[in-house]
Amino acid sequence: MKFFIDTANIEEIKKAWELGVIDGVTTNPSLISKEKREPIGLLKEICSIVDGPISAEAVSLKADEIVKEAEKLANIHENIVVKIPMTEDGLRAVKRLSAEGIKTNVTLIFSASQALIAAKAGATYVSPFVGRLDDISHVGMNIIADIQDIYENYFFDTEIIVASIRNPLHVVEAAKIGADIATIPYSVISQLIKHPLTNIGIERFLKDWEDVKGK
Ligand code: E4P
Repeated sequence: MKFFIDTANIEEIKKAWELGVIDGVTTNPSLISKEKREPIGLLKEICSIVDGPISAEAVSLKADEIVKEAEKLANIHENIVVKIPMTEDGLRAVKRLSAEGIKTNVTLIFSASQALIAAKAGATYVSPFVGRLDDISHVGMNIIADIQDIYENYFFDTEIIVASIRNPLHVVEAAKIGADIATIPYSVISQLIKHPLTNIGIERFLKDWEDVKGK
């Protein structure tokens, strides 16, 4: 399973990269806007830190404009993947970009049917948002299992990025289902590492070692 970090914050990206646990980065307009920086420069810096797929989102809504914007984004670096919202125009753009060899990540996916049709259009990745589904009392992870089954049935190459992850259980559930990728905020990466019994264990070992040292 691959881990992407879901942030545009350089410090978080550097810390996660140094841990050796991330394979790529996903950003979105909200995450970029939090950084209060010029977006292209920021994306270039992210590409200089992480050697893996870096998702950058197109904000145009019409297919022609999405394609133009995607071409510009793809020019930033060979690792850029263009995130495109799940709409009819978005799918038209995905078809054209896939013919040009530009990688796409169809985002704002909330159902298995959307994931199926995005794969048909030639999406490289799809991003189903589990947390936002949980927020409205749907079990977000159910659609991950459905998408996984559908892609396996028909040997689609499209990879599933489990997105909108809010806690470590989301990551574990995604891994049990066999999703290709989880895109995880830094706070949740930290939670994946920690366990109170680990801290208690370290404390006890150090205390016992102090006792034996004096002998
Ligand atoms: C990633 O691709 C998405 O943009 C992100 O995971 C959305 O997460 P949120 O629902 O916590 O904003």
